[in-house]
Amino acid sequence: MPPIKNITAQDLYEKLKNIKLGASCCQYSLKKCEELVPLINKINRLKAEQNAVILAHTYVTPEIIYGVADHVGDSYGLSKKACETSAQKIVFVAVRFMGETAKILNPEKEVLVPARDAGCTLADSINGEKVRELRKQFPEHTFVCYVNTTVDVKAECDVCVTSSNVYNIVASIPSDKIYFLPDQYMGQNLIFEMNRRGVKKDIRYYHGSCTVHEEIPAEEIDHIRQEYPDVVVVAHPECKPEVCQKADFIGSTAQMFSFIKNSTAKDFLMLTECGLGHRIKVENPGKNLVGTCRICDFMKSNSLEDIYRVMTDPAPHERVVIEESLRLKALKSIEAMFQFSD
Ligand code: 13P
Ligand code: SF4
Repeated sequence: MPPIKNITAQDLYEKLKNIKLGASCCQYSLKKCEELVPLINKINRLKAEQNAVILAHTYVTPEIIYGVADHVGDSYGLSKKACETSAQKIVFVAVRFMGETAKILNPEKEVLVPARDAGCTLADSINGEKVRELRKQFPEHTFVCYVNTTVDVKAECDVCVTSSNVYNIVASIPSDKIYFLPDQYMGQNLIFEMNRRGVKKDIRYYHGSCTVHEEIPAEEIDHIRQEYPDVVVVAHPECKPEVCQKADFIGSTAQMFSFIKNSTAKDFLMLTECGLGHRIKVENPGKNLVGTCRICDFMKSNSLEDIYRVMTDPAPHERVVIEESLRLKALKSIEAMFQFSD
């Protein structure tokens, strides 16, 4: 059995005490850490006993990230970790499409998704049947799906991408006709970026959106720049084009994290979910984060209680099960992504 990670309330508090931004669910006193630690250590013991690994997206709550997660990252990084792990059980603390991606890559492993509300407004905006209709309408287009899609959508597409590789992959696809789905704003940002790079492609896109990133207004950047003239603005490519075009850096969650970590600037405005700010506050406390951040209720619906419960008594819907022929079709689009990314 691997060693059991045992943490103290003081250890946890030392990590989490600097987190001040976001909802009250993500603010910590020593007393709150004392309450959390017994369950954290029970989960860590279960992980060792069950040969399980916990993969957590950066957007989930800090007590999960710093208490029980083995790997923390963005959708691309976590799908890579899902491929590499030797654990028999994967507890994917994020939303359902990420657990599905892990299952597509690891059919022999048990994949559990503990989120109470494991949806995602992007993944829920389109299904496989709609993609089949679109393919009839645009028969000459290469269909590129964002990873924030369900398995039946991935199965109908040619190449999957994530926010970390969408621009490079689309630029390298030989076809000059691309249908991108489901995020309309990422589609518009993609057109802008291809034009900037001088890459000529006819790009169509679907009308889905992430309600968390969609609500970020471009004016917020102007207000913050007036108050902090040297502020560096980082944005996720799910933000609207008028936001991305005013940002200094656009990237996935992990790319924004590395950019801020390696930057010599002091003040940052992060136009994304609050979880990234929490990690910056814990892992790079010298950086000053200005402005507000947004909460993804789906990601934040993960709790320590539900992680413990899925590891001991999972409900049928918390176990990811994918029919084999569908899995193999979806796998092709994910493998195409890895081939373009290598
Ligand atoms: P990342 O690829 O940055 O993990 O983004 C996934 C996501 O859901 C962002 O809203
Ligand atoms: Fe989906 Fe948006 Fe939440 Fe990401 S932040 S999981 S895209 S709803």
